[in-house]
Amino acid sequence: MTISPMRYLVTGASSGIGLALVQRLAASGHAVLATGRRPEAALPGDFPDVPHLAADLASPGGAAAVAVRVPAGLDRAILNAGTGQYRPIKAETAADVAAILETNLIAPLRLAHALHPALEASLAAARPGAPPRRQPGSDRLAVAPAGLSRRRGLCRVLGEGLM
Ligand SMILES: NC(=O)c1ccc[n+]([C@@H]2O[C@H](COP(=O)([O-])OP(=O)(O)OC[C@H]3O[C@@H](n4cnc5c(N)ncnc54)[C@H](OP(=O)(O)O)[C@@H]3O)[C@@H](O)[C@H]2O)c1
Repeated sequence: MTISPMRYLVTGASSGIGLALVQRLAASGHAVLATGRRPEAALPGDFPDVPHLAADLASPGGAAAVAVRVPAGLDRAILNAGTGQYRPIKAETAADVAAILETNLIAPLRLAHALHPALEASLAAARPGAPPRRQPGSDRLAVAPAGLSRRRGLCRVLGEGLM
């Protein structure tokens, strides 16, 4: 099967799952904008030859800084950046939990909101004349409970929104 090259944004691309994703996407001929917190000099040796934008998505303005750098005609956004700590609850503070929620839930929602117009425009351009799949606003409603449910995770909801 031949796959048309697409333009991807991948967050959390500097290690782990995100790194593996950008390696696979770049090797398949897709254009990728990769992001993570660390500076370019700290990227792993096997990081592919794709642009990397260093940005802390949990910082004020972090998601907006990434959104303004996405290429025109963005086709897909993989919001993979995240963090977590395994420690006894007595060693965990409310501030620790808030920081994790900021990175894993609030930042992806901010980014999803910022990228939504570009993704919708790209979808419309790819399928001219196709009727909208959902009623206006339903994407937003679908995303709202996504962080609370393991079965309908945020990535899955966003993926369905793009199909
Ligand atoms: N691996 C698992 O078993 C597992 C299980 C459940 C869920 N997950 C989720 O899957 C995703 C990927 O996991 P992984 O194991 O590949 O994690 P990982 O190796 O720790 O990579 C996390 C990535 O997210 C980036 N990141 C973290 N905080 C960020 C922030 N505030 N702003 C921007 N980028 C940030 C990191 O960038 P820097 O390294 O440059 O800081 C890194 O590129 C995460 O969302 C994780 O919560 C993983």
